[in-house]
Amino acid sequence: MSSRLVCFNPDCRAEYASTEVLYACTKCGGLLEARIDYDRAAAAGWKQLWRERRMSNAPLDASGVWRYREMLDLFDGFEHVVTLREGNTPLLPGAKAAAYGGLDHVVFKHQGFNPTGSFKDNGMTCGATQAKRLGLKRVACVSTGNTSASMAAYAATSGLDPIIFIPNGNIAFGKLSQALDYGAKTLQVEANFDQILALVRELADRLGIYLLNSVNPFRIEGQKSIVIEMLDQRDWKVPDWVVLPGGNLGNVSAFGKGLRELLDLGLIDKLPRLAVVQAAGSAPFYDYVRQDDKAHFPTVTKPETLATAIKIGDPVSYPKALLEIETSGGVVERANEQEIADAKAVIGACGIGCEPASAATLAGIKKLVAAGTMRADADVVAVLTGNVLKDPDYIYHYHTGVLKGPHGEPLTSTFGNKPTVVPNDADAIAALLG
Ligand code: F0G
Repeated sequence: MSSRLVCFNPDCRAEYASTEVLYACTKCGGLLEARIDYDRAAAAGWKQLWRERRMSNAPLDASGVWRYREMLDLFDGFEHVVTLREGNTPLLPGAKAAAYGGLDHVVFKHQGFNPTGSFKDNGMTCGATQAKRLGLKRVACVSTGNTSASMAAYAATSGLDPIIFIPNGNIAFGKLSQALDYGAKTLQVEANFDQILALVRELADRLGIYLLNSVNPFRIEGQKSIVIEMLDQRDWKVPDWVVLPGGNLGNVSAFGKGLRELLDLGLIDKLPRLAVVQAAGSAPFYDYVRQDDKAHFPTVTKPETLATAIKIGDPVSYPKALLEIETSGGVVERANEQEIADAKAVIGACGIGCEPASAATLAGIKKLVAAGTMRADADVVAVLTGNVLKDPDYIYHYHTGVLKGPHGEPLTSTFGNKPTVVPNDADAIAALLG
């Protein structure tokens, strides 16, 4: 068996074939992770192979996920791959953002350049591929918006039947619109993300629908490619820090696993430190890493933030995330609504832009630098997880000075950029522009 699913619980470690439809260990209920038996001798040639594939027009090579398929060797071959040419996302320097955060330099790995506008595509291409490999028909997820947009697109392109569950009134319009456009059956449930995840897990088992949330280990495998591609783009120079927002904590689990595997294969010589930033109103992992009692997770029953992508109080992947924070010498930070909103405007002013959850990265960097945790001259890559157009209402409200926090409290438009209404009169406009 060259690849398999293994229980993440160190006291269990039960193993399953990668063809079993499972989202948790049947023996202990633990999280599952994929284990690949790598061809270590061949690994020395992979960097060159991956670079050469950038010249190729073959669909698998043109994908910024499947180009690195030696790290995703879970599918008994690649004939079922479902790809929208995901990945291939840029590294963009942001001088104003660096100055704002207190850093000499910062580089953004912008996952918003993906086909559906978020990092979810890196994982969904693998999840959809596994669904096709297993001959399944219906797929489902609960989502704060991006997973559902991504799943809907990958299902549509591969002939799967997508059913999405979203918290009613709590997802950004851009994301909901995408799911409708890609033809997903869309159920708006009157409950929060954590409650709906429990519901969907039950329905997936009962109705035989394949679950594509990040409890699905194939999703996590695909998201490893975000850090692999980032390192390839940096000619394998490992940064000091990789900063990312944290919600359900699948992405930090994927980054950490991918980085550990690269280190183990001798493809990098050290691990970057991982910094996860949560929204202050939905920050159970921030509290968890600080408490001594690691046997109890401090679930937030009413998570609150305008960064709806990360409005999650009971993140399923927290045990994996804890391992990755500890192994990498990482940290967990939190940022409040004002800090996220201002950081987002600064990223926008760099000509880059992102959705609110992504801006938690810069807000977190500012705090980590101020606290002395992150040095001003550190080599920092911040991952922007979603596209600027995902949540236009938020942007318009911020710049016009009417953005209100989760309790209706007014937020300050520190970097507001209000549009001006002018008469249809050249003289008046010329006078205004000076
Ligand atoms: N940033 C964005 C834009 C997201 O959509 C999410 C998660 C995260 C960050 C957090 O990533 O969950 O791996 O820690 N969105 C999920 C969704 C939950 O349903 O689209 P995480």
